[in-house]
Amino acid sequence: MRAMVVRRYGAPQVFEARQVPDPQPKPGEALVRVKTIGINFADLLQRMGLYPGTPKPPFVPGIEIAGVVEKVVEGGKAAEGEPVRVGDAVSAFTQFNAYAEWAAVPMQRVYRLPGGMPFDDAAAIPVNYMTAFHSMFVMGNLQQGDRILIHGAAGGVGIAAVQLARARGLVIYGTAGPSKQDFLRKIGVDHPIDHEKSNFVEVVRKYAPDGIEMAMDAIGGKSFAESHLCLGPTGRLVVYGFSIAAGPDGKKSWIRGLKAMMQTPRFHPLKLMSENVAVIGVNLGRLQSRGALLRGELDELFRMYGAGKIKPVIGKTFPLAEAAAAHQFIHDRKNIGKVILTIK
Ligand SMILES: NC(=O)c1ccc[n+]([C@@H]2O[C@H](COP(=O)([O-])OP(=O)(O)OC[C@H]3O[C@@H](n4cnc5c(N)ncnc54)[C@H](OP(=O)(O)O)[C@@H]3O)[C@@H](O)[C@H]2O)c1
Repeated sequence: MRAMVVRRYGAPQVFEARQVPDPQPKPGEALVRVKTIGINFADLLQRMGLYPGTPKPPFVPGIEIAGVVEKVVEGGKAAEGEPVRVGDAVSAFTQFNAYAEWAAVPMQRVYRLPGGMPFDDAAAIPVNYMTAFHSMFVMGNLQQGDRILIHGAAGGVGIAAVQLARARGLVIYGTAGPSKQDFLRKIGVDHPIDHEKSNFVEVVRKYAPDGIEMAMDAIGGKSFAESHLCLGPTGRLVVYGFSIAAGPDGKKSWIRGLKAMMQTPRFHPLKLMSENVAVIGVNLGRLQSRGALLRGELDELFRMYGAGKIKPVIGKTFPLAEAAAAHQFIHDRKNIGKVILTIK
């Protein structure tokens, strides 16, 4: 089959189109003919060699696909939730090996799509919306009227968080680059913040002098400390990424990484107690042992999709062979919404 292989860790040019052996599904796995691949920031970090657990090159990156089940091999670990059948349209979480025509995926990580969902949407919902939903309503227990700060509010997780916040009646502060401010207004961010022009702590504290209930931060480094400054009593800081580690060139930089680590705050438990503040870590990739919880979250998201309460914004689609250009597009921070690879 055709696959996009990372030849060595590095900038997007390290991608190479290769023929690789077809995956052979094991007992308990489904073989999926891949139609669309959701690009996640994690894929960029995998390519750079910065994502924990990434194999040594050459390897095929990626974690999120949508397609059609072509074969099911019974046995293995019992599937949680509905079993899938040949011909079902599904989305699935792979562990690497997503940028290819076929994927063999354990049944626990395969989700049947609601009727009529296009494959583009099916590759754009699971990672982004589950990350936001899990952070905001499972770990964060946000309630109507609460105030939330969302960084990267025009990105994949960011837009998901904004839509979920709107559906739940939250007050939204959202940061993004200058060219994305109109878009933030359009999707209903109450307080759009251009992070190049304004200090987001000052903006939040101006409109919410008592502090807000949640800050979702995947930027990392000193941003974690500044997001913490936005919180009031009962505030929750959700730490779910470290985008700052990836520079515009897409290459690993020890200096950049070290600087970001040194600027990362340490939170003393007694200080958190006296402030009535929580720091919450979220990592969807490390939640596999909570398969039933994740499946329930995705079921709820599919219901919200069916009711028209959420709808992914597809920023741009690229053919599989143009994975390098797709990654560069995200490094250049040009994307508004999700970037998808398609296989014809
Ligand atoms: N923990 C989890 O389970 C989990 C799951 C999914 C995603 N994540 C994390 O969430 C973050 C967002 O992921 P995503 O897939 O939504 O990404 P995305 O669509 O590319 O959006 C990220 C946004 O972050 C901003 N940004 C800040 N620093 C950046 C940098 N160095 N390079 C590129 N963009 C940067 C950009 O917006 P502006 O240019 O407008 O500032 C960009 O649009 C990433 O850190 C990712 O690793 C974590």
